Amino acid sequence: MRKTIIAGNWKMNKTAAEAKAFIEEFKPLVAGIDSVEIVLCPVFTALTSAVEAAAGSNVKIGAQNIHWAENGAYTGEISAAMLKETGIDYVIIGHSERRQYFGETDETVNQRLNAALAADLIPMVCIGELLEEREGGKTESVLDTQLKGGLAGISKDDMAGIVVAYEPVWAIGTGKTATPEMAEDTHAYIRKVLTEMFDAETAEKVRIQYGGSMKGANSAELVAQADIDGGLVGGAALEPASFAELITNAC
Ligand code: 13P
Repeated sequence: MRKTIIAGNWKMNKTAAEAKAFIEEFKPLVAGIDSVEIVLCPVFTALTSAVEAAAGSNVKIGAQNIHWAENGAYTGEISAAMLKETGIDYVIIGHSERRQYFGETDETVNQRLNAALAADLIPMVCIGELLEEREGGKTESVLDTQLKGGLAGISKDDMAGIVVAYEPVWAIGTGKTATPEMAEDTHAYIRKVLTEMFDAETAEKVRIQYGGSMKGANSAELVAQADIDGGLVGGAALEPASFAELITNAC
């Protein structure tokens, strides 16, 4: 049985003080929810205060990126040990904004993923097609390439603990959600590829999040689909009440 995982990706929003204030307000709104794993992913500079604010609650903290090297001349990057030191448990890898604006490739996703696994961080590996790729009938081949490149060389044991986030790029921040049926079709396809790459038992264990304009009004219907095991949420995770509503509706 896969436990639903809903993560808020704050992107480049909220200072450390704002993150702390959010979490203080948010914790009581989701207290007692144990059927959903709840994760918040602030910017690097807010991780320590977020971990402190969330301590002892059912709210877990993750980062939005990780570098593959232990240290060295990589200006602007951050290592697994540096992230672990803040007390976080999760990390987003290969978000489409990293792919679009910062040259992230399936190869660098794979390197970052290996660093996260070695540090016992739970990775949320993002994949998804562009609008022109969906319209051109290329969704499956794009996802196939991203999965095979990003997850190359990963063991079955490690794979079982990795979270895959399917985010159709055309649905991110646009208000255009994939319909639950459309999302389910794609999630089922992703699980099929994972079955081919690993095996059925492993693929059954992998949690696949949906991301792209998920909100309180659609979270229940999306998460009710057989192969949708949670969400990676941008805009609707920026206000405590709206994120709590989204999670509560998905329980
Ligand atoms: P929105 O929920 O704002 O569409 O963003 C989704 C996303 O990119 C989460 O990683």
